[in-house]
Amino acid sequence: MTQRRFPAGFWWGAATAAYQIEGAVDVDGRVPSIWDTFCAEPGRVAHGDTGAEAAQHYRRYREDVGLMRELGLGAYRFSISWARVFGGETRGLDFYDRLVDELCAAGIKPVATLYHWDLPQSLEDGGGWLARATPERFADYATAAAERLGDRVALWCTVNEPWCSAFLGYSSGAHAPARAEGAAGLTAAHHLLLAHGLANLAVRAAAPDALVSCALNQGAVRAVSDSPADLDAARRIDGLLNRLFVDPILRGAYPEDVLEDTRTVTDWSFVQDADLKAISTPIDVLGVNYYQPDLVGAAAEPQTGPWPFPGSTGVAFHKTPGPLTEMDWTVDPSGLFELLTRLKRDYDVPVMITENGAAYADVAADGRVADPDRIAYLDGHLKAAHDAITAGVDLRGYFVWSLLDNFEWALGYGKRFGIVHVDYETQRRTLKDSARWYRDVIAANGL
Ligand code: FCB
Repeated sequence: MTQRRFPAGFWWGAATAAYQIEGAVDVDGRVPSIWDTFCAEPGRVAHGDTGAEAAQHYRRYREDVGLMRELGLGAYRFSISWARVFGGETRGLDFYDRLVDELCAAGIKPVATLYHWDLPQSLEDGGGWLARATPERFADYATAAAERLGDRVALWCTVNEPWCSAFLGYSSGAHAPARAEGAAGLTAAHHLLLAHGLANLAVRAAAPDALVSCALNQGAVRAVSDSPADLDAARRIDGLLNRLFVDPILRGAYPEDVLEDTRTVTDWSFVQDADLKAISTPIDVLGVNYYQPDLVGAAAEPQTGPWPFPGSTGVAFHKTPGPLTEMDWTVDPSGLFELLTRLKRDYDVPVMITENGAAYADVAADGRVADPDRIAYLDGHLKAAHDAITAGVDLRGYFVWSLLDNFEWALGYGKRFGIVHVDYETQRRTLKDSARWYRDVIAANGL
């Protein structure tokens, strides 16, 4: 008997991103993106992996939608590659048009992310997310996408994890475009938020009935002790990871303490008068991506070397105790409960979990992939999500990361997040046990 039933109409989904699964990087007028450039630079990506082939989803999307149908997915979150649509190119949009039709025919709601990290390289050459022109160009791209697909896309996600794009891309340089320029990440963060706001307006203008969201990597930030220094370190990291993004979107203002913390590294002169108004254009639901909690304390010494929290040095990240995934991320579903109830308490906003999942070293044998650890991870997090609903959180849906094994950015193909196994030699797909388990959860609308 189902113990925990989810609300009627709950969206059961799976998520992917263009560069991580599509391959086909040089077809139909696609231009190079910052991830093509990053992958081509020796030493940037584990094993020299690139997204050039990935899971060949661009060619195999029909088969992949067939798998989604088999699982009974109610929604599928994919990203549109800006690099395929750049410069008025329409063949890229033709692909997403076919994908969206295929999804609709299978009764699966299309959820389209406009930016999942693959900035066209020529825009990066013009300043990338440090240039105000980039959010302006993004709005034009959003208009083109929404005019073409807006009659069928059920939910738009403007930007995915702007914290990563800004601070891994421009502060620490661990991700494309690999600029280790410290405070520049704050400029990038503002322009990504502005891109979100302008795209929200653009999508609504082109498709008035559209639902609009964004996908933020919001964390449960915990202090390692109650000492004032540790509590302050946790406040600063919470500021840069969480409130820097959610406050302007939902409250129309940057948090005062974050402005204060970062004054020594930037004067925030890149923020123009009307920006916060655009950024705080109402959204329909807040997307949150959650993987593990953060345990933070004060460090004796300020950071040296690349660091993705500009203005907040002297902070140390500790390991939360508990089992680890293949990413060395701690499995702790209570962090998800904490995060969701905090968003309810502080912002009272409807939420969708737009990503949650785990990498394990799965092996396919005899047409089967046994992945009990992933099942345990998903089970624990769905129970935490259900507890949050019981505690009053307006949770509208859940998207497992990821539908398919894929290119895990700087870590390459070694980390497998899929509920469907991909054999990269043959491109054969095999449902993992977790996929079958998820199918049963979806069918029961609970667990
Ligand atoms: C998130 C990204 C997603 C994937 C997962 C594991 O940060 O949005 O593309 O890499 O992590």
